[in-house]
Amino acid sequence: MTTTTLSPLAQKTKDAPKAELHIHIEGSLEPELIFRLAERNGVKLAYDSIEALRAAYAFTDLQSFLDIYYAGASVLLKEEDFYDMTMAYVERALADNVVHTEIFFDPQTHTERGVPIATVVAGIERALAEAEQRGLTSKLILCFLRHLSEDDALATFDAALPLFDQYAHRLIGVGLDSSERGHPPSKFERVFAKARAKGLKLVAHAGEEGPPSYIYEALDLLKVDRVDHGVRSIEDPALVTRLADTRVALTVCPLSNLKLCVFDDLTKHTLKALLDEGVAVTVNSDDPAYFGGYVNENYLATIEALRLGDDEVYTIIRNGFEASFVTPAERDAMIDRLDAHWRASA
Ligand code: HPA
Ligand code: ZN
Repeated sequence: MTTTTLSPLAQKTKDAPKAELHIHIEGSLEPELIFRLAERNGVKLAYDSIEALRAAYAFTDLQSFLDIYYAGASVLLKEEDFYDMTMAYVERALADNVVHTEIFFDPQTHTERGVPIATVVAGIERALAEAEQRGLTSKLILCFLRHLSEDDALATFDAALPLFDQYAHRLIGVGLDSSERGHPPSKFERVFAKARAKGLKLVAHAGEEGPPSYIYEALDLLKVDRVDHGVRSIEDPALVTRLADTRVALTVCPLSNLKLCVFDDLTKHTLKALLDEGVAVTVNSDDPAYFGGYVNENYLATIEALRLGDDEVYTIIRNGFEASFVTPAERDAMIDRLDAHWRASA
């Protein structure tokens, strides 16, 4: 076994308290757990071994990933499946010193297989309540699948209405994910207006594969509080200035962008350029079981590829707390913890 020595900055980053703001819980499902749940639930998979499934994780774009991601999620049927999946993520997050996480889930992926949204949320919530006892706070964000119709999203929103009340401490927002190209944010203006009227937080994937105009639509039509990915904003200088001035954060996922060929090499990633322009970028894992790393692996790969310095890494970690959907007092307490760690480490 080889042991790699980490640079002092890499070590300090690994040990630092961090927030994660872009993680699809279904994307944390590791192949081993997919097979265990498939067996438990009698679900037949298109792959006959863990190795065969893992070998299929050679993606060429977002859609090639989504096809496998939805197949993986097909093993989730019962409350305890959602609990087990979430608990496995909680363990990885705690190991990476994540102290606060804001988790996406895709109810339509499950309701179309006959699993009620209440079952999905109950299982996730049970794990997150336990995580809270172990020092990991969290929020939950319900995402609409953009390849489906807005009417479908509206029906999903209505079905989830009692849950927004029952789980008001956890379920605090809505988001938009799945196939971006050809499904602009404007398609979901009405459902986001309803969510806004209910006082929910709003986020949307935009500018991952889609053009900067999708980021403008997310800001101007959906009125999002954060943009997920948003890396293609760099193509539009006026948009970069606007993002920097308004401090609307981008939840960037470097290893995801690499695996889905948004950039052909991590050294070409636009995160540092956006940071230099004053945009509130954060680092996150997206779908860690599929993209080769949880939060710390995303930080370490990015530090190395983009040669980030101490102040830059501090700013990115701090941005994660600044952009989180917690109370000002909770945010300040997390930043105090970060500052104490950062000062104490060389
Ligand atoms: N983009 C869009 N949809 C998704 C993603 C992503 O990176 N991960 C899970 N659903
Ligand atoms: Zn995502």
